Amino acid sequence: MRLLITVARRIHKRSAASCSGAATNSGLQFRDDQLVCGSTGELVQRLRGQVEVRTEFISEEEEGALMKELEPGLRKKRYEFDHWDDAIHGYREAERAQWGEVCEGVMDRLRAVAFSEGSPLLGPVHVLDLDKAGYIKPHIDSVKFCGSTIAGLSLLSDSVMRLVREDEPAEYLKLFLPRRSLYILRDQARYKFTREILKDDESFFSGQRVPHHRRISVICRNLPV
Ligand code: OGA
Ligand code: MN
Repeated sequence: MRLLITVARRIHKRSAASCSGAATNSGLQFRDDQLVCGSTGELVQRLRGQVEVRTEFISEEEEGALMKELEPGLRKKRYEFDHWDDAIHGYREAERAQWGEVCEGVMDRLRAVAFSEGSPLLGPVHVLDLDKAGYIKPHIDSVKFCGSTIAGLSLLSDSVMRLVREDEPAEYLKLFLPRRSLYILRDQARYKFTREILKDDESFFSGQRVPHHRRISVICRNLPV
């Protein structure tokens, strides 16, 4: 029992990384417990359970199947760059309610890990295609339309997400979102923190540059209660 507690403590400690700490990796190979850092280790601890990144959530084949279904529709649209009041710069988007077998399997898995059973979901899945020069400015999703949980798959590119506490801007978290990972944001992390995807020239995590290529996110949300 003691041993278990010691091991648990160690894991706990290691995962509470402050973003200002020295990078422990060369190259962009982070373990799952190193994908979230923050203004302080204490903040990372406090938001544990509300912020999650799972690497390799989908396989290369599944990413290919998603792209095959999404690309024809996306390609018909143009990236939008100059909507001054938009939260997103350099994007095109779509919604999708029906999927082929492989993609439906991915969606089932996503729903099973991110949402509690019976939690009513926003019908169609949101697909956001960010150009290489695209980025998402700080914003909080409308509380009128979306509930407490947001879960997103990242396709085609690694990226860095930043969460900044709305009423305390010194408090922030950064998430390294590897290609083919899933992130889940819940509760405070979703309601109290603005969320952004950093533009290419600001895209750094733990002192390392994370080049931002074209990135597609597939996002599921639940409904407000
Ligand atoms: C959004 C959003 C996050 C993402 O589309 O409003 O916050 O992962 N997206 O693309
Ligand atoms: Mn949003």
